[in-house]
Amino acid sequence: MIVIGSDHTGIELKKRIISYLKQKNIDVIDVTNFEDQTGDDYPDIGYIVCKNVLDKNCLGIAICGTGIGISIACNKVNGIRASVCTDKYMAQMTRQDNDANVLCLGARLENVEIEEIVDAFISTKFAGGRHQRRLDKIKKIEKSQKDGVEYGDSL
Ligand code: RB5
Repeated sequence: MIVIGSDHTGIELKKRIISYLKQKNIDVIDVTNFEDQTGDDYPDIGYIVCKNVLDKNCLGIAICGTGIGISIACNKVNGIRASVCTDKYMAQMTRQDNDANVLCLGARLENVEIEEIVDAFISTKFAGGRHQRRLDKIKKIEKSQKDGVEYGDSL
């Protein structure tokens, strides 16, 4: 299952990705299918996508104009590893090495092979091994922030 959401800039791109995933018989839940999205803000949208990704333990796709703002917001949520990808190599590597759980896309970018990026993201598995050690360090940074202690003291 894939969770998807966009701010007002990405509504058309979101619909395109939903129909692409449905064609491939992949379950997709649109968590931002609101009546009116004219005044929405990407931090709220990012949070809704991330909350659903964590609750449903699945991958998510979050869209704003550039993909940048929403990725910054998504990465503030504990347990989320969100990456803006503009090509399939980035999408593949962020799953393989970073175990990214949210793919961020920019609706206003041109000449981006969206379907190739989505395919690479959803079909690549996390490699584990030495990469797990690095993810554990990211978790440690999250925990140190939560506990109000300095992560760097342990370096
Ligand atoms: C909204 O106009 C735009 O700022 C937003 O979609 C996003 O691109 C921010 O990073």
